[in-house]
Amino acid sequence: MSVIAIYPGSFDPLTNGHVDIIQRGAHLFDRIVVAMLVNMDKSPLFTVAERVDLAREVFRDHANVEVDTFDGLLVDYAERRGAGVIMRGLRAISDFEYEMQMALMNRHLNPDVETVFMMPAEPYTYVSSRLVKEVVALGGSVHGLVPAIVERRLREKKLARETLRA
Ligand code: PNS
Repeated sequence: MSVIAIYPGSFDPLTNGHVDIIQRGAHLFDRIVVAMLVNMDKSPLFTVAERVDLAREVFRDHANVEVDTFDGLLVDYAERRGAGVIMRGLRAISDFEYEMQMALMNRHLNPDVETVFMMPAEPYTYVSSRLVKEVVALGGSVHGLVPAIVERRLREKKLARETLRA
């Protein structure tokens, strides 16, 4: 029986920490579905379509990695996709409380879907989408922390915003 794992998140933008977790998952599971939440509370830097395009580009040579979007309850999406696993990355203790609450809430909602946590490689333990956006907005470099194409798009977004403001 093939095991499908959902890797859900905002991915605004995809970082090398996310890429690392997806690659680890792609070795463990038959199929990884990178699932981007459509209706986020936060106002994103990249539109869903832009985030999907970026992730598809990064994983275009990975036959068992798919990029999709979802809305509503994650466990309902997992069921629709026939996925028995939700995959999440854990970087530090500070991630733990939020992740445990989500995992247990999802288990309450659907005990048949198991959440699996994975740790990224050490160089990415401090990398977050939020900090990446902040550093780029303030003129710093995120080279090596995000895929090259994400780095380029971040630069383009910054230029476009500066041009709008000028
Ligand atoms: O990358 P993020 O923003 O930490 O991802 C959070 C995400 C998308 C995994 C989470 O917000 C989510 O699963 N939302 C879907 C709504 C849902 O199912 N909520 C109840 C269970 S916690």
